[in-house]
Amino acid sequence: MSLNEDYRSDHSHILGITPIEVVCPTTADEVKACLEKAKENRWDVVVRGAGTGMTGGAVPISKALVISMEKLNAILDIDIPNRVAVVQPGVITGYLQAEVEKQGLFYPPDPASLVICTLGGNVAENAGGPRALKYGVTRDYVLGLKGFWVDGTPFSLGGKQHKNVAGYDLISLLVGSEGTLGIITEITLKLIPLPLHSCDIQAVFKTMAEALHTLANLYTHGIFPSAAEFMDRSCLEAASLYLNKPLDTQDYRLLCQVDGFSEEDVHIQAERLLSYCKKNGALEVEIAKTPAEKSKLWEVRRCLSLALKANSLNKTSHDVVVPPASIGHFLSMLTSWSNESVQLLGYGHLGDGNIHVNILNVGLDKAEWEKIEPLLSQNVLELAVNMGGSITGEHGIGLTKKPYLHLMADSRVMELYRSIKAVFDPENRLNPGKIIN
Ligand code: MLT
Ligand code: ZN
Repeated sequence: MSLNEDYRSDHSHILGITPIEVVCPTTADEVKACLEKAKENRWDVVVRGAGTGMTGGAVPISKALVISMEKLNAILDIDIPNRVAVVQPGVITGYLQAEVEKQGLFYPPDPASLVICTLGGNVAENAGGPRALKYGVTRDYVLGLKGFWVDGTPFSLGGKQHKNVAGYDLISLLVGSEGTLGIITEITLKLIPLPLHSCDIQAVFKTMAEALHTLANLYTHGIFPSAAEFMDRSCLEAASLYLNKPLDTQDYRLLCQVDGFSEEDVHIQAERLLSYCKKNGALEVEIAKTPAEKSKLWEVRRCLSLALKANSLNKTSHDVVVPPASIGHFLSMLTSWSNESVQLLGYGHLGDGNIHVNILNVGLDKAEWEKIEPLLSQNVLELAVNMGGSITGEHGIGLTKKPYLHLMADSRVMELYRSIKAVFDPENRLNPGKIIN
């Protein structure tokens, strides 16, 4: 397989069109030269990071020049007095986190793929992760962006200043624009103080109602976890098979993290969380303080996407968001749409209402699945929107959610989206066909 073939897909597993050429620039000037060449030849341009996106944002669907940022991967500056990191887009998220943590600083966004995904990709998709509950998503940390517009003209927006309300907020617009508005070659990220202590707590409940009731009421009981994840029986069964480990699968689990700047503070928060879980019927609670204990707890949660895929014939994932008080009703609707051939379940970042809905084919043939899956997807996404939620909380629109964007945006808003795209990219050459048509 040629190199170009490797750049046809991403973690959405959609197979796009073989690129005209794949380039891996090592300087911003080379990116500019690529854009000028693309302009001359009227080529489309698709920029990609590590290809870990879940909605097909990096998949070329027209004959395009693919610019892979994998070699533009330097941390340019960790500026401690200014509390920022200046990075190129190809830096691996987990690598930056480890580097800034050595300096007592913290870059919180933690997508599940953080050991392989890139900061440029995170910016393009406005990635989140479990810690979004307390610390927010990628957009909340982007102070500055440098790069090029489609014709190769450079731009520089924001920088090391922590507050900036001058003009329209183009930084926020570019974050999450999935490579459709401009090409980013340098990112200035806000860093915050590193919480020096943390503790992970897993509580096991007999009923989903108990687990969700606990989750729903943490905030009014003086508990502000940095993560609050939920897993149900089906998730635990899949994880047990996938990891080849016995797990008690007859239960519902909350996996929470509390953090702080002193051991005492973390201890107080953990105790409060433990007693609240017990008060609400937790059968068992487990506390993880050491890195080894913590990774044992998180291993189960982190493998879920792969485990559920491995244990079904087909899997469609959605990352809907619903207002926190609607989580229980939303999950019960998923159960009501399940049968022996198709299973619908939700897990993940339930602390902020960001539910990873999986529609799993466990008994249909290909034709039946292809008929039913779009109807179920439509139902799931409509339900989330009708509850006042969103069709995506962290994976973006890309290709797979494009047919549903209209659920969130009326015709006037869709028109505004198209107008914005046309202003930035009048010839529709930047990642065409993503987010909107
Ligand atoms: C996760 O939280 O594990 C990822 O966003 C992937 C997913 O479950 O869809
Ligand atoms: Zn997630």
